[in-house]
Amino acid sequence: MTQLPKIELHLHLEGAAPPAFIRGLAKEKSIDIGGIFDADGHYKYKDFWDFLKVYEAATSTLQSPEDYHRLTLAVLEESAASGVVYSETFLSPDFCGNRDVGAWKEYLHAMQEAADQAERQMGITLRGIITCIRHFGPEKARETALCAAETAGSFITGFGIAGDEKILAPKDFLWSFDCAREAGLRLTAHAGEWGGPESVRAALHDLNVERIGHGVRAIEDLALVDELAERGTVLEVCPGSNIALGLYKDWRAHPIAELDRRGVKVTVSTDDPPFFHTTMAREYDRLADALEWDKGQFLKIAQTSLDAAFCDADTKDRIR
Ligand code: ADE
Ligand code: ZN
Repeated sequence: MTQLPKIELHLHLEGAAPPAFIRGLAKEKSIDIGGIFDADGHYKYKDFWDFLKVYEAATSTLQSPEDYHRLTLAVLEESAASGVVYSETFLSPDFCGNRDVGAWKEYLHAMQEAADQAERQMGITLRGIITCIRHFGPEKARETALCAAETAGSFITGFGIAGDEKILAPKDFLWSFDCAREAGLRLTAHAGEWGGPESVRAALHDLNVERIGHGVRAIEDLALVDELAERGTVLEVCPGSNIALGLYKDWRAHPIAELDRRGVKVTVSTDDPPFFHTTMAREYDRLADALEWDKGQFLKIAQTSLDAAFCDADTKDRIR
């Protein structure tokens, strides 16, 4: 399935950093990031919460706009090799200048320059969704939202929230989401990954987001599934991530097909590909094998994804 043109809506830039890239930065800067790699050089973690710690340790090697320029190019190269033509990527001012607006603008400029270069050289288009991090708390989220409002535009198209879904509630972040909405940004929230249906309902009703990151645990409440279908809410489903983190035992047990059959708009993304030993091409291949999805099904997914993308209509027309 490598050849099929793919649209990816849910990718964390730092989470997509190849392990060798992070090892290289740690060595260059003599940073001790601890034992975050296994014997084969892959990221090593025990569960989701340990994954978050490893993620943050790896991210500590990224310390300058230049590092983010290199990271953006490395990530887009991997995505383009998988057939991705359009990628929406979560960008975190928490890791880029500690939410200082001036520093954030410098990091953003570097990422945008890399994106322009990748577009010219590899034909892949990047747009950014600024994300706050739930377990860093509402105060830092406000600063993140202010960075988002300052830089909203044709490249920064959305605002979201990631991190530990078990901590705090969507309504604790209402100020930040309202601030981002007023700046013209489109909204998404991670929910229904580690939290159940009530967590998806809270993101929908309290934050009024149009997309949900993951959202798969909505399947535990069929009234909510119907509501998602009726509202036309788009789920950014990341099956390989869910399976690697132990949410479902294998590809056949994953609810993506059932959500699709029940009329929910589903899309397919990788989340943090090297952490989960995946790529967009691999996600497509696994879905084709386990669910017998054919080319028509993947074209439908790509159409749903492009319709739900946060970029402007001209960009969509160029990609279509
Ligand atoms: N940040 C990076 N990957 C994530 C995930 N799968 N869930 C929540 N926050 C994340
Ligand atoms: Zn995610």
